[in-house]
Amino acid sequence: MADKIDLQKMRAKVEGINTLPTLPSTLRQISVMLEKPRLTMDEIARFITNDPALTTKVLKMVNSAAYGFPGRISSVSHAIMLLGLNVIRGLLLGISVFELMQKNMAGLWEHSLSCAVSARCIAQQKKMKEPEEVSICALLHDIGKAIVMLQYPAEYEQILGKAEKLGISLYDAEKKLLAATHAEVGLWLAQKWRFPPNLVEAIGFHHQPQSARQAPLETSIVHVSDILVRARGVGFAGDYFVPAVHPAAWDMLRLSDEEIRTVLIQVEDSVSSGEEN
Ligand SMILES: [Fe+2]
Ligand SMILES: [Fe+2]
Repeated sequence: MADKIDLQKMRAKVEGINTLPTLPSTLRQISVMLEKPRLTMDEIARFITNDPALTTKVLKMVNSAAYGFPGRISSVSHAIMLLGLNVIRGLLLGISVFELMQKNMAGLWEHSLSCAVSARCIAQQKKMKEPEEVSICALLHDIGKAIVMLQYPAEYEQILGKAEKLGISLYDAEKKLLAATHAEVGLWLAQKWRFPPNLVEAIGFHHQPQSARQAPLETSIVHVSDILVRARGVGFAGDYFVPAVHPAAWDMLRLSDEEIRTVLIQVEDSVSSGEEN
């Protein structure tokens, strides 16, 4: 790559994503909707049910193992009631962005869904109040990869090649070759779309959980889930590297062997049931 892309230019291009003509109209509409400071349940339910394909996908997702109500949610309004607005917002974004990326990086969707299953399981073990929200943090943690791939396809291709050649993580290759990593890019968008603070931090700091201030627990869960899923070889996150878990995240979660085993079993069950795809 000739020159590193200028950071300000990169940020402006990433943040301008909802004006891109190449984006599918659903994602564009979702971006516009997420800009609204107050979004009501009725508005979001109407938006989803107006689009039969989207309705099907939302119902498929909420009935999958990732959300813990397998086969029990039959309507969009029921889904919103059970899971809450924030979860549904994240879900919509996940569905549209990852669909877009599936063409470019086979396996990233599986990686993300498996992380969502793992994060929900850990959140339950740690008796957190909203395990589904933690699951959405994990579902969207690599959203920056989708965005960079979309905005800088040629550069990202080189970065993927570099990571593979050098046997380093995609994150480290990005640090070498890009002005910002996928975590930072995700953070910009999460802030711009006014995601709740736990989601912003989990996306922005999933590779450096010690930096999270408002949501260290959620961020640590996403960080550990990312690594557990990589270690288990489920999906593909752009590289074959399995990084070490940051000690701050280990200390925060203190997962027992039994708890880790349970997480891995749930991840494998959700993959083998095939209901996620
Ligand atoms: Fe990542
Ligand atoms: Fe990841």
